[in-house]
Amino acid sequence: MAMNRIVRHALILAACAGFSAPGLAQDAEKKEVKETICFESRKGASEVTKREIRPGLPNVKCSPTTDAVLWYGDPYEDTVPMGKVPLLDKIPEGHAVVKPRTEKLSLASTCTLACHNGVTPPGFPKHKKPIPIPTMEAMVPDVKDLQHGRGRIWCLDCHHPTRRDKLVDNFGDPVSLDQPQLLCGKCHGDKLRDWRDGIHGKRIGEFASTGKKRWFVCTECHNPHDVQNGAHQRGFTQLKPEPPPQLPAGMKDARHEKVHPIAH
Ligand code: HEC
Ligand code: HEC
Ligand code: HEC
Repeated sequence: MAMNRIVRHALILAACAGFSAPGLAQDAEKKEVKETICFESRKGASEVTKREIRPGLPNVKCSPTTDAVLWYGDPYEDTVPMGKVPLLDKIPEGHAVVKPRTEKLSLASTCTLACHNGVTPPGFPKHKKPIPIPTMEAMVPDVKDLQHGRGRIWCLDCHHPTRRDKLVDNFGDPVSLDQPQLLCGKCHGDKLRDWRDGIHGKRIGEFASTGKKRWFVCTECHNPHDVQNGAHQRGFTQLKPEPPPQLPAGMKDARHEKVHPIAH
């Protein structure tokens, strides 16, 4: 079942009515807008709201059985240049694009402002040893039993010690949350290499007609705090295969697909 959310928008008119004509307040009926929200790669972390790009052309088509995005009207919607990745520098600037993670992270932007600002809690940690942090666990339940690395890595192996809205590379330099590949790649070099080459992960769009390609970044698929999600699932819930798509109008069956187009 696609998630349908009814959002009631009181017309802005209602707010202004008092200042203009008194009668308007009653006329300002409430408008109902039905929203369909589905996810791209990780439920709860890569949601997209369905809307029309042009009349009749949706930005995405959502699976009614899994809530997953099945098709894109515009694969580059909301994407930005990927930024520098070692060995991908031959691709012209802006041709390799990604969807930024930052806007999906409700806490990240406030980390340095409200909490880890060097005043409260006092100073910044001097080591990476695990310490219990009940406040964090309440806010981010996934970190309660940090499975990543099976107890051998901790928050500050990934998060910058003094700049909490950043990740951290092997030199201790900050890495944007929008470029998790630069973080993950420091320990998973083989996966970074495969991802760069398009063997691991996913890319959509094609260079030939648009000159662009969208890469999905590591955290769109993997939850960094719970990569295992139980020994069995390893982070991924198996989906039941979808039925085949509807045949184009006028086509009776898809038997032609079984015949090789080139005689051999
Ligand atoms: C393996 C690397 C890694 C480790 C270890 C790790 N994190 Fe994270 N954390 C990340 C990444 C990457 C993101 C951004 C996730 C995304 O884009 O979905 C993140 C996001 C967060 C956020 C922001 C969540 C939001 O929704 O705004 C918080 C808070 C956080 N981590 C806290 C912690 C704490 C506390 C620990 C230690 C107990 C920890 N992390 C350990 C990599 C890590
Ligand atoms: C500081 C090193 C380090 C960083 C940074 C790191 N990982 Fe890991 N990761 C590990 C270790 C160690 C393991 C456990 C390997 C094992 O147990 O065999 C692991 C395991 C995994 C697994 C496999 C889980 C399983 O058991 O099947 C995935 C998936 C994964 N990491 C993804 C990521 C992603 C995505 C990022 C970036 C957000 C990342 N890692 C960043 C060290 C790291
Ligand atoms: C489009 C989704 C997607 C993206 C993007 C993605 N991965 Fe994966 N990754 C997967 C899937 C699916 C698996 C297989 C999980 C399984 O074995 O059940 C996997 C497996 C892994 C594993 C475990 C492999 C093993 O041998 O057990 C690691 C480590 C990993 N990914 C790291 C990364 C890193 C690092 C990035 C970014 C550079 C990345 N992934 C990007 C979907 C993705």
